[in-house]
Amino acid sequence: MKKLVENKMLYLRNIEPADANESYLSWINDSEVNNYTEARFKRSTLEDIREYVKTQIELVNSVFMAIVLAENDKHIGNIKLHRIDKQHKNAEVSLLIGNKSCWGKGFGSKAIALVTEYGFKQLNLNKLYAKCYENNFGSIKAFIKAGYQEEGRFKKQYLFNGKYIDGVQLGIINDQRGAN
Ligand SMILES: CC(C)(COP(=O)(O)OP(=O)(O)OC[C@H]1O[C@@H](n2cnc3c(N)ncnc32)[C@H](O)[C@@H]1OP(=O)(O)O)[C@@H](O)C(=O)NCCC(=O)NCCS
Repeated sequence: MKKLVENKMLYLRNIEPADANESYLSWINDSEVNNYTEARFKRSTLEDIREYVKTQIELVNSVFMAIVLAENDKHIGNIKLHRIDKQHKNAEVSLLIGNKSCWGKGFGSKAIALVTEYGFKQLNLNKLYAKCYENNFGSIKAFIKAGYQEEGRFKKQYLFNGKYIDGVQLGIINDQRGAN
């Protein structure tokens, strides 16, 4: 198991098939955890998440990572760089801190900062972005805390509890690199 990127609090490593376990399943099916994600539309089985993890690992334009606590190697959530576009050098970031006792402790924003460092330094990307529901205040704040800025709103993009709501795109540019 190789640490892809780390700080004092957390490290990110590649997701492995064995990570598709009961605790991951409980995160995905928890209505508070999945409330602002597409996972809320169906109840998943262990088989579903095994298949999902397998597919994600095989994707060439995606890096699917586990968010792990440095102090005890506890896997608390997942983060991915996906839709990696090698021509335009950008990628989308999505994350989930599945262990709710870990919310509000800075892990979300720190994990975003780590994946951003990885995307810029290791993958030489120019830009990263994320798409959030307008009412996912925790996620929007976590991205802003990690240095992202709101780039735009997509009117009535999502259907949330019977009401159409806006999508918010947040992005960050790698100022350190030229256009090479
Ligand atoms: C959204 C999520 C990643 C945030 O992670 P986190 O570890 O709680 O975030 P942080 O602790 O880094 O918090 C960042 C800021 O947001 C605030 N915050 C966190 N949750 C919040 C909430 N529900 N409402 C308002 N603010 C919130 C924190 O207080 C902090 O602000 P502060 O520094 O001013 O105190 C996490 O709650 C999660 O995984 N949720 C479920 C899945 C999800 O929604 N993923 C995002 C899809 S776009």
